[in-house]
Amino acid sequence: MANFIDIKQLSQTDLLALMQQAQAYLDGANPPALENQFVANLFFEPSTRTRCSFEIAAKKLGAHVLTLESGTSSTKKGETVLDTVLNLHAMGVNTFVLRHKQEGLLQQLADKLPAEIALINAGCGTQQHPSQALLDMLTIQQHFADFSALRVAIIGDMWHSRVAHAVIAALQTLGASIHLIGAQALQPEHINLTRVTRFTDIEQGLQNVDVIMSLRLQKERMQEQTFVDDISFHQQYGLTPERLAFAKPNAIVMHPGPLNRGVEITDAVADGPQSVILQQVRNGVAARMAILAWAAKQ
Ligand code: CP
Repeated sequence: MANFIDIKQLSQTDLLALMQQAQAYLDGANPPALENQFVANLFFEPSTRTRCSFEIAAKKLGAHVLTLESGTSSTKKGETVLDTVLNLHAMGVNTFVLRHKQEGLLQQLADKLPAEIALINAGCGTQQHPSQALLDMLTIQQHFADFSALRVAIIGDMWHSRVAHAVIAALQTLGASIHLIGAQALQPEHINLTRVTRFTDIEQGLQNVDVIMSLRLQKERMQEQTFVDDISFHQQYGLTPERLAFAKPNAIVMHPGPLNRGVEITDAVADGPQSVILQQVRNGVAARMAILAWAAKQ
């Protein structure tokens, strides 16, 4: 079994192979790669898309799925996540899909767990959301074949966004150029700056881009000094039809969800002809099938 923890651990070849496998699932391939296996979904932070799509993905691959959330597991009574994993492993679970707020927790657990366990990162801290990055790369590839010719704009709260950090790393692996658009306080700090240009002005940043990714304010991870109110954020960085017109006419609009309509994105853009937001969600199931199957066969 292999762990799937950080998108930066994947080479370009590995990333493209996972995208190809996910596309094969979308095209109808469906080998029962996890038949009679148990997969535990351990979510210590809220989730709709990631949790449900990992559950659907595992079931499509033939697995049985258990779901534990922080409110109902014995971590509430002081048990560590490591002990939770070891106890479920003793019952026969080998694959764990885990979301947690603690930075670096997945790697810390992986260092202590036996090799027959696969840990799959479903979003950890502010830095890692590798399955979201994979489904986003698959969605972009379905519209544009050549990543090295692409300009991708990411708008909003990138500092607190695990999606932004993972997507930036995946785009760099695939060779795209990246525009980061947002206030100084919301720009990511410790990132690789290869092919990255920063903008504080949204109209400048959107000029000639092929892909736009809008991100919500991650208020649950903000300290008081970086807190930005919805109205001023919308005025400066909300994605409206007028602003979208600065991008290329065939640009696609992405958002990882959950949407805060009327804040980072208007209804007209979220539901408009350039939006691929629900395509991202659909791709999420196939991308997560590819991850689970890859982890099981290593
Ligand atoms: N994109 C994403 O991670 O959504 P959820 O928080 O609903 O899983």
